[in-house]
Amino acid sequence: MSKRVLKIGMVGGGKGAFIAQPHQKAIFSDGTRRVVAGALFPDPKIAMEEAANWPYPIKGYESYDAMIADQKNLPEDERLDYVLIVTPNWVHFDPAIKAIEAGIPVMCEKPLCISMEQADKIVEAVERKKVPFAVAHTYLGHWTTRFTRFIVQSGLLGEVQWVDASYIQGWLGPLMLGGASSMPMWRTNPQMAGKSGCGGDIATHALMHLRFTTGLDVTDVSAHLEKFIPGNALDDHFTAYCKLSNGGKAMVRASQISHGHKNDLGIEIVGTKASLEWKQENSECVTIHVPGQPDRVYWRREVQPNDGFLGDVPADLLAEPQIPSGHCEGFHDAYARLHRFFEADVRAYWEGKPFNCDGSKYANVYDGRMGMAFIDASVASSEKDGAWVKVDIKK
Ligand SMILES: NC(=O)c1ccc[n+]([C@@H]2O[C@H](COP(=O)([O-])OP(=O)(O)OC[C@H]3O[C@@H](n4cnc5c(N)ncnc54)[C@H](O)[C@@H]3O)[C@@H](O)[C@H]2O)c1
Repeated sequence: MSKRVLKIGMVGGGKGAFIAQPHQKAIFSDGTRRVVAGALFPDPKIAMEEAANWPYPIKGYESYDAMIADQKNLPEDERLDYVLIVTPNWVHFDPAIKAIEAGIPVMCEKPLCISMEQADKIVEAVERKKVPFAVAHTYLGHWTTRFTRFIVQSGLLGEVQWVDASYIQGWLGPLMLGGASSMPMWRTNPQMAGKSGCGGDIATHALMHLRFTTGLDVTDVSAHLEKFIPGNALDDHFTAYCKLSNGGKAMVRASQISHGHKNDLGIEIVGTKASLEWKQENSECVTIHVPGQPDRVYWRREVQPNDGFLGDVPADLLAEPQIPSGHCEGFHDAYARLHRFFEADVRAYWEGKPFNCDGSKYANVYDGRMGMAFIDASVASSEKDGAWVKVDIKK
């Protein structure tokens, strides 16, 4: 029997929006989910026009308040299964809280919100209402990221001693410098983006990559947040030296001024037995360096278990990729994997069954809160010229 198609309500995504479109493709990719409604723009009239212009018919709402409030008036089989929030950072908290309070699962873009106070309120609401909640850290959805997690957490690298996680861009800085109209102004406004610009926007991805793949937490930071672009109200270059929960050390770096770099998210994980490298711009493979041995390059869909390094690899992990290697997966497929995993938890929730939401397949509300805690600690450290500051880890 074919599956019931899940109904998604989008908050944000009207004209000029960037990340709504990759989500829309990812949602559509399996045929089991569909955007059916949207509050797509802050101006009510434009919101309705944008809904009418959607590539296929959806129900438009003048605001997310109206969309969420309407659910209780609808027959059960017409209600939203989850809400997707793709608005700027300062418009994450309010729709998230309202959806959670209405008992509707939420996938929210990163960073979770703009303050620790907001983050704690979202965590409290999720725990109280027991709804599935995802934070859209896209790059966790690459199969190679999931494979990296398997390698590191199986102990194949030995004890993790050092991690270098970075997200380096070169194109945003010149846009900011030129005041380009294509550059949404909320990104450089502390009231709208949060306390850190570059850190909140992309260092949170690097942090999440470190935490997801290694299973370790960053406990302390010594950070410098720098503004190289004249007039920038927020950091455009972010460097945090970190202590890890296992006694190891790490660097979490991000930059928006490094010419030539595009969306250069990468991670190097050094263990006592071997090290691992991965880059999102070449996201089809993972490279392993074992001292005294030739490098091992593992390509998606070409992994052979028990090759003298790997041992057994879970069959469900090997079976995940849907297309052969050489036909590249990418950004949209990574988002699709997050929606696919979230869909399973959302279905379980509505069927009254237990659901995981444990952070093993996509970032959950606690990961979102950790991103905020990391930014808070980094800002505090930078204000004290890089003094060590503890990260408020609360699980
Ligand atoms: N996961 C990723 O890889 C990734 C990449 C880019 C952006 N993002 C995140 O996605 C979010 C959006 O970023 P973007 O670049 O798409 O921004 P954007 O400015 O391009 O789009 C935001 C959209 O939200 C709409 N909006 C604003 N307030 C609204 C309201 N009250 N009601 C309804 N719609 C409203 C805007 O009109 C616009 O259509 C940000 O939080 C950003 O950090 C994540």
